[in-house]
Amino acid sequence: MELFVDSADVEAIAELNALGVVDGVTTNPSLILKSGRDILEVTKEICAIVKGPVSAEVVALEADAMIAEGRRLAKIADNIAIKLPLTWEGLKACRALSDEGHMVNVTLCFSANQALLAAKAGASFVSPFIGRLDDMNADGMSLIADIRTIYDNYGFRTRILAASVRSVNHMSQAALIGADVATAPPAVIKAMANHPLTDKGLDGFLRDWAETGQKIL
Ligand code: E4P
Repeated sequence: MELFVDSADVEAIAELNALGVVDGVTTNPSLILKSGRDILEVTKEICAIVKGPVSAEVVALEADAMIAEGRRLAKIADNIAIKLPLTWEGLKACRALSDEGHMVNVTLCFSANQALLAAKAGASFVSPFIGRLDDMNADGMSLIADIRTIYDNYGFRTRILAASVRSVNHMSQAALIGADVATAPPAVIKAMANHPLTDKGLDGFLRDWAETGQKIL
């Protein structure tokens, strides 16, 4: 499973990218607001750091205006994935921008039927939102599983980008189900390295090492 950073925080992205664990980035209008940066400037900086797809989201609601915004965003860098909402107008824009050769990430996906339409409209990525479904007592992870089954049944090449990830459990479950990509905030990606038994084991090794009185360097 590929790992995208769900953030517009350039420093946090650069830190994770340096470790070689980052395959791409997703942003959205809320993350741009949080960054306090200009969308075109910050997205350009992110695209220069990360080689993989960087999703930048349109804010228009009507297809022609989405297409115009998408074309402008795509000019930022070759690795831009134009992010479009999963509405009827968004699907029209998806068809047009995909046909022009742009990468498109269809976002705000909350049902298997929506994901089916996104694939048929030529999306490169579909972003089902796990956390927001869980928040309303639905099962976000079962949506990932349903989309996986549907896409595999018919050989759709649209990649499943598990989004709205809130926990390390979401990450491992999405990987087990076979999501192609998961995008998560930097804190969740860092937390994937944690395990209490690792900390406990390290404490024990360091105590015993101190008793040996030895040094490696
Ligand atoms: C994905 O592309 C979205 O930017 C993101 O995952 C939304 O997450 P949230 O539901 O935590 O805002």
